[in-house]
Amino acid sequence: MRAFTLTRPDDWHLHLRDGALLRQVAPFSAAQFKRALVMPNLRPPLTRVEQALAYRARILTAVPKASGFEPYLSLYLTAATPVKEVAYASRFPEILGFKLYPAGATTHAEAGIERLESVYPLLEAMERHDLVLQIHGEVTDPEVDIFDREKIFIERELIPIIKRFPNLRIVLEHLTTQEGVEFVLSAPATLAATITAHHLLYNRNALFAGGLRPHHYCLPVPKREPHRQALLRAATSGNPKFFLGTDSAPHLRRDKEAACACAGCFTAPIALELYAEAFSQAGALDKLEAFASFHGADFYRLPRNRETVTLAPASWSVPEVYTGEGGEIVPLRAGETLGWRLIPNPYSDSSSSFSNSSNSSSRSGGSPS
Ligand code: DOR
Ligand code: ZN
Repeated sequence: MRAFTLTRPDDWHLHLRDGALLRQVAPFSAAQFKRALVMPNLRPPLTRVEQALAYRARILTAVPKASGFEPYLSLYLTAATPVKEVAYASRFPEILGFKLYPAGATTHAEAGIERLESVYPLLEAMERHDLVLQIHGEVTDPEVDIFDREKIFIERELIPIIKRFPNLRIVLEHLTTQEGVEFVLSAPATLAATITAHHLLYNRNALFAGGLRPHHYCLPVPKREPHRQALLRAATSGNPKFFLGTDSAPHLRRDKEAACACAGCFTAPIALELYAEAFSQAGALDKLEAFASFHGADFYRLPRNRETVTLAPASWSVPEVYTGEGGEIVPLRAGETLGWRLIPNPYSDSSSSFSNSSNSSSRSGGSPS
């Protein structure tokens, strides 16, 4: 295993939250990625252009200037979104599309879509104005087993959308199933998918390993091992339909270690290290750069980045908890060893390449009290 250098990657699916939590977590993503598509599931949701632009300004004040981090936004699609908002959004290069949450599917998805037909005029406008539809692809029908919700969403909802809007570019976010992989492969070039690091590394056993593991709980839930294998094959295939989206979704420790734990894995501080681990286990490190740095930019018709980053073999422990002004956040792999390290990653070691005096994020190793 040797250190290797790749074009600086982008994260095409990220949750940064707002306020103190935003200020705490955004620097981690800025240290790892050049660009990110930031999700709009805030409270209240970011349904309008002006809200998204104001949020973008807050993100920019939360990251070190020297990082050169560029946030892009997706607007939260609702049945009440005026059709003219689509044309308006298309005038802003920072806004890449709209996010479709089936109502109640996940964190802050209450304002999402009940009946897909209700947003057909909006999808038609997006198709016309060439905005991308990002989809949380799970049905919310409580009769449907949680492990089947992605597969059924594809059958019931996604196929009709693709048929009706053949020129609408769609990203099926955080893909988790073999059926999903096969569907994306068989669909026209207008359909692509993001894949998280945690779905590449864990199957559903991780949720129950030695006890209930809330820090492995995310949506869509990880599936059986053959699904993880299918995701790994897709990510490492070199096929441009698959690209990196961490879905890093920070929740405060007290909201994760709770009777009704929130969904989301916080992976931002170690995202590239996790992807490197998955690709290296698959013997496909040579495929990481295209997946992490080219395919997403190409799909979104943005230039590829020019800077580079280096990943080096290293044995180091992930902090047990990240403590900052937002509170305590337990990352995926807390207290465990990683075999790769982004050089330099100012938040994973003591050497700092870009520092920001207003950045209050801090790491703390050892056991939290
Ligand atoms: O695990 C998840 N967490 N999945 C999502 O779809 C949303 C996210 C969040 O915002 O917490
Ligand atoms: Zn998400």
